[in-house]
Amino acid sequence: MDYLKIQGIDTLNGTIKISGAKNASLPLIAMTILAQNRVNIHNLPQVADIRTLLKLLSNLGAKCEFHDEHVDVDTSTINETKATYEIVKTMRASILVLGPLLSRFGHCEVSLPGGCAIGQRPIDLHLKALEQMGAEITIQAGYVQAAAPNGLKGCNIIFDKITVTGTANIVMAAALAHGTTTITNAAREPEVVQLCEVLNASGVTIEGIGTAMLTIHGTSGKLLEITPFSIIPDRIEAGTYLCAAAITNSELTLNDVEPKHLGAVLSKLEEMGCSCYVSENSITIHPAKELKPVTIITQEYPGFPTDMQAQFLALATQAHGTSIIEERLFENRFMHVSELQRMGAKIVLNGHTATVNGESKLSGTDVMATDLRASSALVLAALVAQGETNIHRIYHLDRGYDSLEKKLEGVGAKIERLKE
Ligand code: EPZ
Repeated sequence: MDYLKIQGIDTLNGTIKISGAKNASLPLIAMTILAQNRVNIHNLPQVADIRTLLKLLSNLGAKCEFHDEHVDVDTSTINETKATYEIVKTMRASILVLGPLLSRFGHCEVSLPGGCAIGQRPIDLHLKALEQMGAEITIQAGYVQAAAPNGLKGCNIIFDKITVTGTANIVMAAALAHGTTTITNAAREPEVVQLCEVLNASGVTIEGIGTAMLTIHGTSGKLLEITPFSIIPDRIEAGTYLCAAAITNSELTLNDVEPKHLGAVLSKLEEMGCSCYVSENSITIHPAKELKPVTIITQEYPGFPTDMQAQFLALATQAHGTSIIEERLFENRFMHVSELQRMGAKIVLNGHTATVNGESKLSGTDVMATDLRASSALVLAALVAQGETNIHRIYHLDRGYDSLEKKLEGVGAKIERLKE
């Protein structure tokens, strides 16, 4: 297994190019199941989760062709509708094939994704909505067995909770359904917006895109001619590098980024004393003279993203004062705290709230990554710690960050990837 060796440094300097968004890529790859044509996808990030989902589609019989600038996905050759545990267990977002497979083929079996380090990750809302659309759903030996031999029928769905992949799954199921589906309390994340925009450009009329109330006019089983598209920039990758600049008192510029997707993150960085200058597709951050403490409560978009909580918690260890960070979406998303405490961070956990006493002198040591965003928080802490930090189990990091060590090395970080 690989690990990262990082020397604490004083500052970074330069420009980082942001990759395509992992969480936009996953539903858009699943969406190709609804296509009659070969789909041309640009700007996919080179991360493990994308390779996993493309492998899943290939296992079902689809053809994925990798080119320098894009990937072509042809699902006309799919001859299997069972997504097996072997692959689903490695990436729970594989559940995103459930809606499209069911809508296109009228039946499918998808392994229950199970939980992960940050929580139970249930899919009850996905299943309840599909049943409302006429699917017969049974859970058998760890698999979701879904059947809708006469196709799904449009209906009015109200989500009890806002669910990102739940919204994506139902939008894709509704795309080929008979009649109109409305989704109330839909997720408004930019990644869901892009899925709706691509579908809307491919023959599925969708109203209310970007709002909490979506109306999808199904094609009654007619497959889609999906136009080529390019994945939107990864707002969480961008937010992570902004935190890298803030924690090391550095000025950094991010290119190929979408500033309007980072409203809550930029506002919190400014609250902490940083200055962020944005243009159409770049952000330049100037560090704070003195990092101020902050209060953060994670919420659904456009609120402060839960996927940025761990990174800001690491940043808060360097603020002059006490920060309060409350995690409202997941039940166990403080796995990074114990490792940060081992580096010298002064954090008190009480249920879903972390109290972070700032001005912690962090020291380099051996730490272990536990989940994707927790590992990025350890990288940030290592950049500012005294001495050398070795971060183990970085396969977590490789799931969602494209060439992280190369991008950081490119702006002056002393970071290398080594073999255990
Ligand atoms: C998506 O996960 C993202 N993953 C997550 O990013 C992100 O943290 C999360 O949305 C919240 O923004 C992808 O897009 C692939 P949810 P998702 O369904 O869709 C509860 C990362 O780091 N819930 O919006 O699985 C659930 O338990 C990953 O890139 C139900 O109760 O999250 C949670 O408390 C981590 N029943 C809340 O809703 C359901 O059927 C939000 O979950 C579904 C969800």
